[in-house]
Amino acid sequence: MDQFLKVLEDEVQLIALAFMAVVYMLRIRWLLKFPASRENTPSRGDERAGIAYAMVAIAMPWAMESARKHWTKYAEFAVFHLGVAVAIAVTFILPYWPGLIAGPRAVVAIQAVLALAFLAGVSRFVKRCVRPDLRLISSADDYFSIILLDLYLLSAFFATPNRSAWALIAFFGMTTFFLIYVPFSKISHYLYYPFQKYYLGKHLGHRGVYPKQTGSTNLQPVAK
Ligand code: HEM
Repeated sequence: MDQFLKVLEDEVQLIALAFMAVVYMLRIRWLLKFPASRENTPSRGDERAGIAYAMVAIAMPWAMESARKHWTKYAEFAVFHLGVAVAIAVTFILPYWPGLIAGPRAVVAIQAVLALAFLAGVSRFVKRCVRPDLRLISSADDYFSIILLDLYLLSAFFATPNRSAWALIAFFGMTTFFLIYVPFSKISHYLYYPFQKYYLGKHLGHRGVYPKQTGSTNLQPVAK
């Protein structure tokens, strides 16, 4: 079983990762075929600043009305994604730098993040099931993705101590599945993120809406 695990953690992951990279490169090439439209109206702001603002706005909850009003929802989103990032990091740390998280404190800290992320994911899944507005806009992939991600966080939780071969096989087995499945699922939203933010920032920057400013207007006078 040790040899099976070794191959699963290393060669199998690298092949699956290479597959994901190829699919993403093809998709990025396709996305780049759609140039951003040019605004015909006179500029009232700064497109570059608008793009930069749109890219980082997700990390500025105070600048988003929805996050200010529903900060628990934002916290849930942030904790869930932090857990996903930690689980992804663990897939590299365990096979290549296991010493980094060998100590009991590191294991507990990582497991705490994963457990919180799991709970945030369960809460998001329950909301998606019970809220009629969310049900209306949810596809089968939305439910499947969040269930899968939650199971993944759970498997990362049990694999992190790096002791149980079964837990490690479950974790790296799921990682392999993810690397192949994710490029075709809605979970690929992060690939679209920079493109969507580029278009949004360019448009709202041109109109002087982005970057948002408090207290005064962003608008520059229209050239006569
Ligand atoms: C640049 C990285 C990423 C960004 C900017 C990002 C952003 C977002 C945003 C804005 C949402 C919608 C949140 C909401 O509706 O409240 C979301 C949802 C989601 N993200 Fe990400 N994400 C990223 C990476 C990832 C990764 C790597 C995964 C998993 C491998 C992931 C899994 C999910 C899932 C499953 C949902 C749906 C959650 C639900 O159904 O409630 N995200 N993400």
